[in-house]
Amino acid sequence: MNITVVGTGYVGLVTGACFAEMGNSVTCVDTDETKVHQLKEGIIPIYEPGLEAIVRENSKAGRLLFNTSLSQAMQQSALYFIAVGTPPGENGSADLTYVLEVAREIGRNLQDYAVIVNKSTVPVGTAEKVRDAIRAELNARGADIAFDVVSNPEFLKEGAAIDDFMRPDRIIIGVDSDRAREQMAELYHSFSRNHDKLMFMGIRDAELTKYAANAMLATKISFMNEVANLAERMGVDIENVRKGIGSDSRIGYSFIYPGCGYGGSCFPKDVQALIHMGDEFSFDTSILRAVEERNQAQKQRLFEKLQQRFGEDMSGRTIGVWGLAFKPGTDDMREASSVALINRLVVAGAVVRAYDPVAMDEARRWFAPELFERGQIVFCDHQYDALADADAMVLVTEWKPFRQPDFNAMKKLLKHPIIIDGRNQYDPYALKAQGFDYAGIGRDLG
Ligand code: UDX
Repeated sequence: MNITVVGTGYVGLVTGACFAEMGNSVTCVDTDETKVHQLKEGIIPIYEPGLEAIVRENSKAGRLLFNTSLSQAMQQSALYFIAVGTPPGENGSADLTYVLEVAREIGRNLQDYAVIVNKSTVPVGTAEKVRDAIRAELNARGADIAFDVVSNPEFLKEGAAIDDFMRPDRIIIGVDSDRAREQMAELYHSFSRNHDKLMFMGIRDAELTKYAANAMLATKISFMNEVANLAERMGVDIENVRKGIGSDSRIGYSFIYPGCGYGGSCFPKDVQALIHMGDEFSFDTSILRAVEERNQAQKQRLFEKLQQRFGEDMSGRTIGVWGLAFKPGTDDMREASSVALINRLVVAGAVVRAYDPVAMDEARRWFAPELFERGQIVFCDHQYDALADADAMVLVTEWKPFRQPDFNAMKKLLKHPIIIDGRNQYDPYALKAQGFDYAGIGRDLG
């Protein structure tokens, strides 16, 4: 099939590359000329394992093209994926400016029946807005051309996006026409060879499914963080509780790891957007508000644990931080807990020495340049450099190289043998036996 994907951000690029890999002819469109130029050269602007190889191979095979002009790309295609950004607007609602701009441009250039698919995460009711925007442009030029709008949300996880796309749990498709349904079934046919992964439903149903999935996962995490905080006060080890409840198949083991808060481009934004949608429908989504509030508070927990040990004023203190990205396997810093921690530390007067195996270039942009110039934040070349003369070590992101560190070396480097483990990676009992002052999340065993 001939497919045009508009937007070469994370979702657009993965979608375009994977459809090309499945044998389709894909043109990815982006207005950013530099980005398009780089993509044509096979240079990928994001860190995502496996993506670069797929982009290069399919570009070489002529199945994957990049263009800055949507109208040019439209001469070939009858299937459009809108995958442009929906940044949080006022009150946490998703800003649809880019989505509707693309819809209008499609309307201005459409020549024949086409299916327009919303891939971006958009509020319930957006497909109708996209349809209206296209229709208005068609009417303006007196064109009587049929088209359908479809909602096909993505469930990609950063760091595992290719695998998630190629081997999805399910493919959600919101449609209201048989013609569009047939096209989508043909497009995704090869993804559901073993069993049918396609789930057709109403357009609004599909739009809400995406938000509900992310909000449910975020709720699991905030719930666990709340219980973990309670466990600390009770002298309970949350790890035992996690295993104990995870073994109940109705609860399950996934997404019940307590930590220093969830981040990334989806959970925080989508929970806020769903709260906002509730407001618009005059419904108080009190559970979601609590999920969001707990997460904000959870991002302060690491700082609070340091404060308990060093007091309000941390001038003269140095804190070694392992991990900056919002999770391992990515350089994405959006809503990362490290940002909340480091900003608090700097305000309290501490010097931060930090290391991340992948995200340091990206992370540099997230802090004021003066902080690096004044030496209040130092990015180190090695994980152990970050601990040189530090008063404490904080684990923020559970990258693999941090899982089994050399604790003897750490003890020698640190001024005080304090480990604050934001991801419960280490064994509190073993570390206590080695003379460390250890605090995890829900594992402050005194
Ligand atoms: C998420 C969804 O998983 C994906 O389906 C959707 O399309 C986009 O949002 P992603 O943002 O890539 O994907 O990250 P994910 O792996 O889900 O983790 C999100 C955050 O939750 C991370 O900050 C992670 O550290 C945190 N998390 C996850 C926990 O704190 N505890 C857990 O048990 C699981």
